[in-house]
Formats: sequence, structure tokens, C-alpha cells
Amino acid sequence: MEPNSLDYEKQLKQLNKENRILTKKLQRSQERQIQLEENNQRKESLFKRVILDLEKSRDISEQQTMELSAALAKLKTTQEQLIKSEKMAALGNLVAGVAHEINTPVGNSVTAASTLAEETTSFANSVSTGKLKRSTLNNYLELATEASEIILSNLQRAGELIQSFKQVAVDRSSLERRTFPLKSYLSEILVTLEPQLKKTPHLITVTGDDTIQINSYPGAFAQIVTNLITNSITHAYPTNKPGYIRLEVHQKSEQIVIQYQDDGCGIEEQHLNNIFEPFFTTNRDQGGSGLGMHIVYNLVTQKLKGVIKVTSQVNLGTIFTVTLPLSDS
Ligand SMILES: Nc1ncnc2c1ncn2[C@@H]1O[C@H](COP(=O)(O)OP(=O)(O)OP(=O)(O)O)[C@@H](O)[C@H]1O
Ligand SMILES: [Mg+2]
Repeated sequence: MEPNSLDYEKQLKQLNKENRILTKKLQRSQERQIQLEENNQRKESLFKRVILDLEKSRDISEQQTMELSAALAKLKTTQEQLIKSEKMAALGNLVAGVAHEINTPVGNSVTAASTLAEETTSFANSVSTGKLKRSTLNNYLELATEASEIILSNLQRAGELIQSFKQVAVDRSSLERRTFPLKSYLSEILVTLEPQLKKTPHLITVTGDDTIQINSYPGAFAQIVTNLITNSITHAYPTNKPGYIRLEVHQKSEQIVIQYQDDGCGIEEQHLNNIFEPFFTTNRDQGGSGLGMHIVYNLVTQKLKGVIKVTSQVNLGTIFTVTLPLSDS
């Protein structure tokens, strides 16, 4: 039995040893498990944080996008309001111009008519008192003829002015389409600008094909020409040298070309690409809003379905070329 009991003890030792090893292994694996779980928890909370952060930044960027689009919408409305008020101001100028321009012929007529009235009264007196001389009669006849001529020609002039102002003003406010002779309409627009032009030393001519009839929006033409001329007066001749401004119209296959040219100071190359941008102005100090050329660009490209190009050379002048389809309907 002796060796057997030894064997047994040996086996028992061995078993104990194995048991210890296994217990240790178990312990280690439990520790690893705990570590893994901890790791997992850490990772999970990290993920959660990342997701939360992402959501937060998405919320922020959504809010920023919303704020940006609100700001953009506001900017657009402001821009539209400015354009509208610009148009109203142009119409206001036109009305002030009409009043001023018509004042002269009407004033002349009133003077002539009141002189005629006075002379007629004293002539009637001479007749009724029987003191009428041949020379008095002749003088009166001469004065009456002259006064009637003055009254007639001035009232005719006033009538013409009212006619062209009426046409241009109605066209401007209604922006309706009709068929009209292009070249003479451009000249009519210049008549309405006479009050502003009279204060300047510049010469303006309209040349080219008299026969072009165009079915389009005359109001848009009035606004385009007014803005171009106002710009030349405001920007092109800073030294007040007398300028020569030319408007020329011709037809080129199915297109109409209107060339507007001034011989002023020109536009610096670095500004040429900006002049059609809204709010671009080199004249903010003097109250320029920078909308004039933007309005011109929109009218040409959207309302008239045409193209506008600008070329300019410093000290030589600026050319705007507007090309329009003869018919866009
Ligand atoms: N004929 C021209 N000669 C020289 N510069 C010009 C001419 N036309 C336009 N410009 C330049 O283009 C700019 C933009 O013109 P735009 O008509 O849009 O604005 P503005 O005339 O400055 O202001 P607003 O017309 O709103 O009163 C002007 O500030 C000016 O620098
Ligand atoms: Mg302008």
C-alpha cells in the first residue's frame, strides 16, 4: 500500500497544482473580461459623446443654414425694395423734370397773353373814345400778330413736351409691350432728360437706322437709356469737359444692336467686371447706391432677352453694346 499512497499524494499535489493554475487562469480571464467590459463601456460612452457632438454640430449648422437663408431672403427683399424705390425716384425726377420743362413755354405764353390783354384794353379804349389813330391801329395789329405767334408756338412746344413725357412716363410705370420706332423713341427719351442735360455742356446724338420697328417694352428702353446717360453725366466727366455721347442703332440679321458710347474718363479694368453687380459703386460718398447698372443688366437680359457688353479705356471712354432679338415672342 505504501507506494500507492505515495502515488496518491503525488497525484493530489499535481491536481492541486493544476487547480491553482486553472484558478489563476480563471482569475486572469475574469480580469480580462472585466477590462474588456470596461473598455466596451468606455468605447460606448465615447461613441455616444461623438454621436451627441455630431448631432449638436448638425443642429448648429442647421441653425446657421436657417439663419443664412433668412439673411439672404432679407437681403433679396431689401434689394427689391431698393430697386423699386430707385424706379420711383426716377419717376419722381421725371415728373419734376416735366414741371420744370413745361414751365418755360407756359410762362412765355402767359407773358405774351397778358401783354395782348393789356394792349387790347387800351386799344378798345381808344376805339370807344374815338381817338383811334392809324399808327395805334397798326401798332396794335403788329403786337397782336406777334403775341399770337408767341402764344401759339409756345403752347405747341408745351403740347409736344407733354406728349413725349406722357408717353415715356406711362411706358415707365406700366412696362407694357407695344410696337414702336426704335430710333425716334430713343430721341423722345432724350427730350425727357432735357432738364438734366441742359445743365451740362455735353452733346448727345442719336443716329442709325430710322426704319427699325421693334415690338418690345419701351419703358425698359427709357430706363436703360436714362441710367446710361445719368452715369455718363455723373461719372465720365469729372472735370466737366464737354462730352460727346452717341447712341447708334442698327440691325444685324435677326438682331438689333444699340451702341451707347461716351468719350469720358472710362472705367478702370479692375472695375469692369463689377459694374453690373448690385451695390457696386465708386460713388458711395456722393450717394450712389450702385444699382443703376444692375437694373440695366436685368432689364436687358431678363425683360428684353438680350445681351449687354461693356468695353472701356481709361481717358478714352466707355462703350455699352446692347444686342437684342428683333422679336422674342
Ligand atoms: N459711363 C461711365 N463712365 C465711367 N464710369 C462709369 C460709367 N458708368 C458706370 N460707371 C462706373 O460704374 C459704377 C456703377 O454704376 P451704377 O450706375 O451701377 O452705380 P452708381 O452710378 O455709382 O450709383 P447709382 O446709379 O445707384 O446712383 C459707377 O460707380 C462708376 O464707377
Ligand atoms: Mg448710376
